[in-house]
Amino acid sequence: MKIAVVGGGGREHAIIKKIKENSSVEKIYALPGNGGMAGDCELVPIGAKELDKIVEFCVNEKMDYVVVAPDDPLVLGLVDLLEEKGIPAFGPKKDAAIIEGSKAFSKDLMKKYNIPTAKFETFTDMDKALSYIDMMGAPIVVKASGLALGKGVVVAMTVEEAKEAVKEMMLDKKFGESGSTVVIEEFLEGPEVSVLSFTDGKTVVPMVSSMDHKRALDNDEGLNTGGMGTVAPNPYYTADIAKVCMDTIFLPTINAMNAEGRTFKGCLYFGLMITKDGPKVIEYNSRFGDPETQVVLPLLESDLLTIMKATTDGTLAETEVKFSDKSACCVIVASKGYPKKYESGFEIELPELKENEEIYVAGAKLSDGKLLSAGGRVLGVVSVNDTLKEAVENAYMVTSKVRFENGYSRKDIGRRALLVKGDN
Ligand code: AMP
Ligand code: GLY
Repeated sequence: MKIAVVGGGGREHAIIKKIKENSSVEKIYALPGNGGMAGDCELVPIGAKELDKIVEFCVNEKMDYVVVAPDDPLVLGLVDLLEEKGIPAFGPKKDAAIIEGSKAFSKDLMKKYNIPTAKFETFTDMDKALSYIDMMGAPIVVKASGLALGKGVVVAMTVEEAKEAVKEMMLDKKFGESGSTVVIEEFLEGPEVSVLSFTDGKTVVPMVSSMDHKRALDNDEGLNTGGMGTVAPNPYYTADIAKVCMDTIFLPTINAMNAEGRTFKGCLYFGLMITKDGPKVIEYNSRFGDPETQVVLPLLESDLLTIMKATTDGTLAETEVKFSDKSACCVIVASKGYPKKYESGFEIELPELKENEEIYVAGAKLSDGKLLSAGGRVLGVVSVNDTLKEAVENAYMVTSKVRFENGYSRKDIGRRALLVKGDN
């Protein structure tokens, strides 16, 4: 089989490595991929948002299956375009990807179907948004409705900060049209859990839970990033909470999407907060998380490609989805300066890895056989071990052997999880 994976980061590298385990796969293409994954697939210089070119390539090369990993092409309707040409693809169609593409949509969906989430109001009129903030007071959360590279959320501790965020989104158009509608919502407190799930629109199978570390610096300080590291499983996600989530969030969401005529197939990502009133949805993503995927997929014992195809074919209920009971930790190595300005082009030397270790490359290119940094987040160093403590320690041990002068990583990935979990 010939498989194309659309996207180019560490998440895509993890997906590609896992798909390679299926013996019927002859060749994997990454569109566009990055130089660090050249040993695992063929790189095709077509960007993830160049939908027409992607479709043309997949038709010409007679692709058997396409995995669409990032949000943009899903929200723009790549899965629909591929299916029109008879090429099956992993991921939701455009009408279902809106669950991530529009927060106004997803919040209304949750309200209509009683799915627990923060109380909110949606605004297209700036003055009304500003008066609402005055009425509600702080802390309060302001969100651009559309896609904003994970940067469209401001958790404001003061009324002034919240109003400034609204003005930046609605008046200054900081996120373009994505901010012309804003959602203003109640501030919630509690530990956050990421639960990725496979679904064919009938059955929903949660993957092992994980914990992201979104801030750039230790102790959750500094700016928000795409994610500086992850651990799995997430110790806050107990069996009792998992049951509540299945009954009040996961199944109701799948049913709600069906009821709206927007059947969701692919990976539905539930960003949850475990509040004192129970688990609530912070956000939905219509795709695998990054860097959650880098700790979740190494724990998957079943065949990824078989599961992905089952979500497309509607046969997920009959398909084995089994996770190991081990733990995983991913430490992101980013370019100094990220998520603000950073320089690229620094040489990277990777250490030899053992069987339970992986380095997924997120932002690098090959030049004269040398690996050079070419992005904000550059590497995801992963270790899988019997206990979370060992996974964290070993991920840092491997990270210390990476030679990359311009790199930095957080030193406390997994620390909070270990405090919850005790010694293992
Ligand atoms: P999102 O992009 O919607 O996941 O939001 C980014 C981050 O903002 C989340 O991971 C939370 O840490 C925080 N956040 C979002 N919504 C809320 C809320 N209602 N209350 C408190 N924090 C929030
Ligand atoms: N790590 C968060 C996300 O992928 O949206």
